[in-house]
Amino acid sequence: MNKSRASAPAKVILFGEHFVVYGNPAILASINRRLVVDARKIDENRILIKSNIGVAGEYSSLGFKATEGGMEAKTTLDPLYCAAMQVLVARSKKTGIKIAISSGVPPGIGLGSSAAACVSTVAAVNSLFQKKYSRQKICKLAIESERLIHKNSSGADCYVSTFGGLMHYSKTKGFKKIQAKGRLALVIASTGVRHSTGDIVAGVKKFKDRNESLFQSLAKQAAGICVQAQRAIASGRHDELGALMNENQMILRQIGVSHYKVDDLLDICSKAGALGAKITGAGGGGAVIALAASNQDRGKIASRAEGAGYESFEVEIDRKGLIV
Ligand code: MEV
Repeated sequence: MNKSRASAPAKVILFGEHFVVYGNPAILASINRRLVVDARKIDENRILIKSNIGVAGEYSSLGFKATEGGMEAKTTLDPLYCAAMQVLVARSKKTGIKIAISSGVPPGIGLGSSAAACVSTVAAVNSLFQKKYSRQKICKLAIESERLIHKNSSGADCYVSTFGGLMHYSKTKGFKKIQAKGRLALVIASTGVRHSTGDIVAGVKKFKDRNESLFQSLAKQAAGICVQAQRAIASGRHDELGALMNENQMILRQIGVSHYKVDDLLDICSKAGALGAKITGAGGGGAVIALAASNQDRGKIASRAEGAGYESFEVEIDRKGLIV
């Protein structure tokens, strides 16, 4: 095939971010925002990548040249170049490729845009050749590519983006889908403060190294919250789930990944009737996820956050994951 397309969803972490890097469990879900990658073989010996998020560039024997977005282009595109090259090397193929990224996932706010980009790039480039890789293999290559920008990645984001749905994940046990009783009415609100996941994870490591016993005790509490949350999801106890989100947020605050704009948003969500709310993903700004009792309440939370100047959107859980 000369042309191919793959898309992968964004994600939210409902419980367990950061601690999942150290082997703890996390509960996460893919959501109905997607990033699409179109790949095409070209006759030149180059990998060209363009996107709708203000970065573009080309990789050739001369190295990297940004055609849009300057130095940020390199940081954003290197993992995607690596994703494409991993497939070419594994298949012993030599061809130029043009990659076009069309993202519906806001970048840098903890919604897994780089994981969705790595997963769909591996899948789209792979589809240019005979014999498809399994989802497991695509996910593995995507994690290795993502580790270029975030070297301690737990792999959680790539897993949920590849396999989709609501899942329990740990580095050692992999993932298990969770059956939820009732629908989760979720809303995301962005602080507008972008972060580098790698830098925030490195900051948490510093905190851990300086406060080992406190960190271990917080990790134990976070793991306990995940166990209770999984039961609350399975039996549809959303009041309890919201309270657990608030508890998880207190732990995240203690490891230093909250932000004054996060606190402002949490206050807005709570006053608008959220059952619970917390950071989702790395934090340090980024996005907040809130659980509402109904779709009507969810709309109210989103419009209050919008009214205060924070971009917000209601989300549904995606069940498909990677689509090739
Ligand atoms: C980032 O979306 C989630 C973190 O837990 C990092 C990781 O799991 O690799 C902060």
